[in-house]
Amino acid sequence: MKDFSFSKDLILWYEENKRSLPWRETTDPYKIWVSEIMLQQTRVEAVKPYYMRFLAALPTVQDLANADPELLNKLWQGLGYYSRVRNMQKAAKECLALYQGKMPGTYKELQSLPGIGEYTAGAIASFAYKEPVPAVDGNVLRVISRYLALELPVDTPRAKEQIAGFVRSVLPKDRPDVFNQALIELGATLCGPDRAARCGGCPLLGHCQAFEKEMTELLPKRTPKKPKRVEERTPLLLVTEDGKMALCKRPEKGLLQGLWEIPALEGKATPEEVGRVLKSWGCLPVPGEIQPLPHARHVFSHVVWEMDGYRVLVETTGGLSFFTKEERKALAVPSAFKAYFRYLF
Ligand code: ADE
Repeated sequence: MKDFSFSKDLILWYEENKRSLPWRETTDPYKIWVSEIMLQQTRVEAVKPYYMRFLAALPTVQDLANADPELLNKLWQGLGYYSRVRNMQKAAKECLALYQGKMPGTYKELQSLPGIGEYTAGAIASFAYKEPVPAVDGNVLRVISRYLALELPVDTPRAKEQIAGFVRSVLPKDRPDVFNQALIELGATLCGPDRAARCGGCPLLGHCQAFEKEMTELLPKRTPKKPKRVEERTPLLLVTEDGKMALCKRPEKGLLQGLWEIPALEGKATPEEVGRVLKSWGCLPVPGEIQPLPHARHVFSHVVWEMDGYRVLVETTGGLSFFTKEERKALAVPSAFKAYFRYLF
């Protein structure tokens, strides 16, 4: 059997098979940071246009630090988990205050910034500065838990430390950037999350414990999640004869903070209840113009919204703010309201 070296064989495979991705063409730590934050919860193909647009609007750390939060939300609209971009701005402000407007130059300092955890710090430090540190994301947890046939749930600190320890032990000091990208790439492609790993082309084949034990489809293990809380809501698409629509800003804390939304009642309301509430807002419906809309659902990380809304033609606007179609395009309305986007934009 030919000599096997985890890192050499993996890197050889990567160099022949890697996808060309925009964030792999740069060593600018800011650009790498933006990509890694976006990639945390979103697929590569979906991230690409967001990444290009974000960097075109905010090409430097200083631009991010000084950006209007409304613009940030608009650039993030559709990516979800908006706290990510808020934390990025906080971190960018720290870079201005503490690091002369640049990203700090070490893993340790990077990790001290808001929203930059072990993984992101490892990715930036290794890709941008070639610091020999692991970058263990979900892809790497999957590859290594399979390679070692590790049955501990990978979301536990013990498993994460064991996996990071293994990565440290095989990480080549002279090529940590290529090595970390290669591990991520293997987990994103052949050793993917769809359970049916495509082991045929894997550079680790013959050394992978999960393959040996026919366990690839059983790994990685995770601790079972708590069921999500279900909330019923009644969104109200309040429109005027001249095509304006009501939107309100969510409070500056909690779910979807500071984003724009369709006004909504908690719970599932009947047309009569809707009529009464609108009257109390001074927003009077045209008689007979409270039309039910199809059911819609949005799944957040911990909550599910079950929405049964109405479209209501109103003749007075009361205390609510109404916006033209053009004005609505500039506002960040989260994807939770995607079912209503065809009315909004
Ligand atoms: N997922 C997380 N980081 C990534 C990267 N640098 N390339 C591809 N997919 C990724």
